[in-house]
This record gives sequence, structure tokens and C-alpha cells, in this order.
Amino acid sequence: MRDNPLVLHVLGARPNFVKAAPVVRGLADLGVRQGIVHTGQHYDALMSDVFFADLGLPEPIANLGVGSGSHAKQTAALLVGLEEVVLKESPDLVVVYGDVNSTLAAILVCAKLGVPTAHVEAGLRSFDRGMPEEVNRVVTDALADVLFATSPDALSHLANEGVDPAKVHLVGNPMIDSLFSALPKLDPEPVRARLGLPEAYAVATLHRPANVDDPESARELVDAVLAVSRQIPVVVPLHPRGRTRLAEAGLVSGETMTIIDPLGYVDFLSLVRGAKLVVTDSGGVQEETTMLGVPCLTVRPNTERPITITHGTNRLVTPALLPAAAEKALADGAATPSGELPPLWDGAAGPRIARVIASWLKGDNLSPAAQGVPQQMG
Ligand code: UD1
Ligand code: UDP
Repeated sequence: MRDNPLVLHVLGARPNFVKAAPVVRGLADLGVRQGIVHTGQHYDALMSDVFFADLGLPEPIANLGVGSGSHAKQTAALLVGLEEVVLKESPDLVVVYGDVNSTLAAILVCAKLGVPTAHVEAGLRSFDRGMPEEVNRVVTDALADVLFATSPDALSHLANEGVDPAKVHLVGNPMIDSLFSALPKLDPEPVRARLGLPEAYAVATLHRPANVDDPESARELVDAVLAVSRQIPVVVPLHPRGRTRLAEAGLVSGETMTIIDPLGYVDFLSLVRGAKLVVTDSGGVQEETTMLGVPCLTVRPNTERPITITHGTNRLVTPALLPAAAEKALADGAATPSGELPPLWDGAAGPRIARVIASWLKGDNLSPAAQGVPQQMG
């Protein structure tokens, strides 16, 4: 390894920024040289800039500006842009996050160039290859050199796919680190007042292609969310994907429905913290509601985050069952089944990941036991 090795973080979409912030901070604390490459997959100020500000992320050393497009066009632009920047910067390790197209492209480029990679949030599986994210997860984990798992179920998924356990480190969840850091700033009152919401309200986020791309699915979902809004006022910070389709299906502001632009990280989580109920199809929001103890109904047939059901407040629902599930969740309140957060969701995942990376850069033995990181939870 060179003196003063360089770590690059490839980030592109909203959830990447949230997961990377604690890792970047952890590496900075250890004095590791690093830089962020922003692919530009998300580019609206409310999908990107606001996260850099809220999470205290340093300015990217490059923004590839790839923007939107079909999977093929977007991934192709990502491959070309990332190859150039990796060749120019010659990093010693590239860290990728989650399951978005920027993650997939970065792992492919580095595998072809022979540049080592680490994947944060390895091993999550919905076992639904109809989700673009599931394809990205499987390919990314097959090619990564170091894999950081956020929950114990990930370890068996990776073992079943033939990933060498010596490459896998169970480190906890950096998205939860970000939430821990933000907690003192999370105040629902000013956001609620600004939006003119009553004290009891629900929050909904919707952006999965399976829910919002097809007009029929969008209509079914919107009807269900409207039915919830007749029980409790609903505010929807709406992701740009599907905005038009959902509006055509009837998701418009009204007496008990408030449709707004996406919110910044601190404002969004403030609103979630004060909510009686969250309805979502997001991955990250399932985890954040588990930590905040807010009931969460996930409108999907499956989840790659089952720990949010076994250890948290999350339930999977179909659109048809959403109104009744909302009624029950509102009556029951927020008790978590086990009363405990998932293992290692303690706000210290970023420093654990940073320690493993720093040792790896020094060429130390990579076995999880040697890093003081528990490999298998009981
Ligand atoms: C992507 C990820 C998804 C993740 C989500 C987080 C993939 C395949 N999907 O989905 O896993 O859950 O990010 O939010 O990588 N758009 C804007 N402004 C932006 C960004 C997007 O208007 O700043 C619109 C464009 O019309 C674009 C659409 O949103 O076509 C979809 O964006 P894209 O990044 O392709 O996928 P997401 O649905 O955001
Ligand atoms: N989020 C946000 N503002 C919003 C909606 C979500 O800051 O209006 C945050 C949320 O708290 C979480 C992340 O964005 O940290 C999740 O991103 P998203 O749901 O877009 O992606 P997914 O997790 O489904 O991949």
C-alpha cells in the first residue's frame, strides 16, 4: 500500500449521503485521506445539496452530473464518468453504499480496473429480482472486496451466495448513526407549524417503481392513502419520481392531505419523530421509524430489512389492507415487539467501519475477529 493512501466514496442518491456521513467522519477522525465523488444521480437541491449541509458532508472532489435516464442510459453514463475519475484519482479503496445504480456502476468499474472496493450495507436481500435494487445488491456483493453488514441476517445471505465470510464484517447501521447524531436537532413543532398540520398527523413517502410507475398501481395506492387521510391528516413529502403519475391518480393537496416537495434530512426526520404513523415504500424510512418507535406501514410485498419487523415497528401491507392496518396501528401506538433495537444499531457503526478500513489500508489481517468487530451475533 502507498504512503498516505486515498479512499474514495462514490455517492449518488439521497440515501447514500445519509449512510456515508458517519463513515466519512470516522475516517477523518483517523486521519485517512479521502474524497467524495458525487455521481449526480440525484441533483435537485432538495435531493442532494440539503443533505451535504444537514449531515456536514465535505464538498465532493468531483460531480459527474450523470442525471436521470433509463437504467441503461443512466448506468452507461455512470460507468463512463466513474472510470475517468477512478483512473485520474487512482484510489487505494473505493467505498460504495446501499443499492442504487451509482453503487452498481462504481463496483463494476473498480472490478474491471482492479481497484479494491468496500460495500456498506452488504447482504440485504428482498429475494425479489423485480426490484432494480435487488439486482444491484447481488452484483455489488459478488464483486466487493470488503463487505459491511448492517444486520445479522445479511451474514447468512452472503454465505449462501458463496461470499467468503472472512471478507464480511457485521458493524451495525450507519444510517442509524446519522439519526443518532441528528436527534438533538429533531423538533417536530416548527415543521408542523410551518406546514399547518394538527398535532396528530401521519407522514407518507412513496417512490418505488412498482408502486408509482404503473397508473393502475398508482391509483390503487393513492386510493388507500386517501382512505388513511380520512382517519388522520397525512403529509406527503413527495419524491420527484412518480410525482405526475400520483397526481393523476388523485394524490393532491386537500383538507386532510398535504403534498409538499421532498424535505431536507433534519426537517423530514423531525416530522417523522412527531408522527403518529408513517406509510412508506422507502428502505431507509423503515429503519428510522424502528429507531424512533413510530409505527410504520410499508406498502410492499417484501422487505430486504426484515429486522425492522422482528425488532421494530414495521409491518408490510398491501394497498387494499392499508386503511385497516392504519386504523389498528393508530389504536395500538408504538410498542416494539422485542423492546430492543437491532444489534449494533448503537450509533457507532461509522467508527467501526472506519477502523476496519484503516487496518485494511495498512495491510493488516482482515478477519473480523482481528478487527475487534463481532462477526456473528447470538
Ligand atoms: C433511486 C434508487 C432507489 C432509491 C432512490 C432514493 C436506483 C435504481 N434507484 O431511485 O433505489 O430508493 O433513488 O431516493 O438507483 N429526479 C428528479 N430530481 C432528482 C433526481 C431524480 O427530478 O434530483 C426524477 C427524474 O425524473 C428521474 C426520477 O426522479 O427520472 C428517478 O430518479 P432515479 O435516480 O433514476 O431513481 P429513483 O427513483 O430516485
Ligand atoms: N428523506 C428525507 N426527506 C424526504 C424523504 C426522505 O430526508 O423528504 C430521507 C430519509 O430520512 C432517509 C432517506 O431520505 O434517511 C431515505 O431515502 P429514500 O426513501 O429516498 O431511499 P431508500 O431508503 O428507499 O433507498
